Formats: sequence, C-alpha cells, structure tokens
Amino acid sequence: MSTSPSSVPAAAADGTRPGAPGGLPGSAAAPEVLQVAGLRVAYGGNNALDLERLSLRQGEVLGVVGANGAGKSTLVNAIAGWSRGTPRVSGAVRLDGVDVSALPAHRRARAGLLLVPEGKLVFGQMSVDENLTVPGDVHDAPGRHVYDREEVFELFPRLRERRGHLGSQLSGGERQMLGIGRALMLGPRVLMLDEPSIGLAPRLVSAVLETMRTLAGKGLTILLVEQNVRAAIEVVDRLVLLERGRVIVEGTASEMRDDPRIAEAYLGGGHG
Ligand SMILES: Nc1ncnc2c1ncn2[C@@H]1O[C@H](COP(=O)(O)OP(=O)(O)OP(=O)(O)O)[C@@H](O)[C@H]1O
Ligand SMILES: [Mg+2]
Repeated sequence: MSTSPSSVPAAAADGTRPGAPGGLPGSAAAPEVLQVAGLRVAYGGNNALDLERLSLRQGEVLGVVGANGAGKSTLVNAIAGWSRGTPRVSGAVRLDGVDVSALPAHRRARAGLLLVPEGKLVFGQMSVDENLTVPGDVHDAPGRHVYDREEVFELFPRLRERRGHLGSQLSGGERQMLGIGRALMLGPRVLMLDEPSIGLAPRLVSAVLETMRTLAGKGLTILLVEQNVRAAIEVVDRLVLLERGRVIVEGTASEMRDDPRIAEAYLGGGHG
C-alpha cells in the first residue's frame, strides 16, 4: 500500500492499524464488544446463515463481503434483531458480554447495537435538520458517545450545507451520510452498515468509508457489509468472506489482499 497523506491510517506489518490515543482499538488488547456464536437463520427450509463464531474488538472495523444472496444482510439483520419475512433465528449475540438475543430490535438499539440498513434510516419528508433530531432520552454511557447535530456536521460538512433540504431531495451519498449521522446520534456501541457505498460515485465511496476509520479511531466498533471489496479492503482491519451463509475465508486486510480467493473473485486477479 502506498503511503499517501490520506486520512486513512495504513495497516501495520502485523495487520493491525494504529489506534486512538489512550487505547489500542482493534488490537488484541482491546475487549471484545460483539460476539456471535452459533448464529443460524433459515427461511422456510433454506439456511440463509450458518455462522459458528464471529467477534469484534473495540475500535475494530470488520468487513463482511460476499456475492448477492451470500447472507450479508441476513447476518446484520439477525445481529440487530430485525427480520424480513419470517426467518427462524437461533444462536447467541452478546454485546459487552451480555446476551441480547432474546431482545427485540428496539431494545438492542437502545443498548447501542445500531444498524444503518440499505434503506438508510432517513425520513424523506423531513429536512436534514429534522432527521438529525433525536429523542432527548439518549445519553452518553461508558464506551458510547451520543453525537449531537454539530458533531455530525463536523463529520459530514456536506450535510450542513444541505440542512434545509428534505431527505427525499438528497443524493445517494448525502442520504448515506444522514443515515450514519442518525445512528451516531443514538450513541452506538457497535455500528453496522449494510452496503453504505451502493449507488455512490467513487469519490463519495472513499469519503464515506474513510469516515469509518475516523470513527474507529475514536473507539467505535464497526461491522461493514460491502460488495465493493476493493474499497472495503482499504479501510477494514479484518475481512470475512461469506458464501451461501458460511464463512469461507477470514483474515486481516493485508492477508486478505493476498488471498487468491479474494484476489481472483474481487480484485481482478491482481493485488489492487
Ligand atoms: N425474506 C426472505 N424470505 C426468504 N428468503 C430470503 C429472505 N431474505 C433473504 N432471503 C434469502 O437468504 C439468502 C441471503 O440473502 P441476503 O439478503 O442476506 O444476502 P446478501 O448477501 O445481503 O445479498 P445482497 O448483496 O444482494 O444484498 C438468499 O438466498 C436470499 O434469497
Ligand atoms: Mg444485502
């Protein structure tokens, strides 16, 4: 990887990325914030997901990639407690060691397990400012920061310029930023994003994904679902490849860049 003056810290030789001051986010020393064990989701008789184990350390960005229908959305929906249709879900999801798998989605969200779905959490008939208004009963807690509107504008200056516009008038990239902003205002412990780069211009893809590094540098734990492997591999610490609901390969970003299964299928056979 070249050493460009970009805001994305390069991975170190051991595959970890430099952490934020005062801690080692994403490193082996950081606590495991999210743990998934034996997570299975079936629609009718079809298994959409069969995951032995997955864990995320504090301040880590984990990428989940895979083809259409591989089970990526099924995974983040199951973690968030959302269901499309009537899936049968079994297995454990632990947030900071607490099993949340019996909790409905809204209780998991209150606990800080937040998903920005493909629909992006944006109200089309409300202005950007109105979208960035969050019920007053959300407060900072250990390991969680409740962003205010100003902080969201600092992260995404474009939203400040568009603050009077309706959600429905925004571009795909702006809607994505707004969806992320809304999630940040709910004080995420773990932020999950389902294909945030879909439909975005290449310039915006890197802008949105680089924001993930900024947030992880502050200690946020991020699960990033992406079809754009080439873009994702630049910002994640670790990458998981799903195929038919199962993990096929898993490793650090640098290991995965050299993995033939990733390189051939997603990076055009080269090393990017
Ligand atoms: N509501 C549903 N009812 C029945 N089957 C479903 C439902 N939702 C998803 N599936 C099936 O589960 C499998 C995984 O789908 P999922 O949407 O998780 O894939 P994905 O990796 O997110 O794909 P994409 O990249 O297209 O978003 C697919 O075989 C899909 O057809
Ligand atoms: Mg999906």
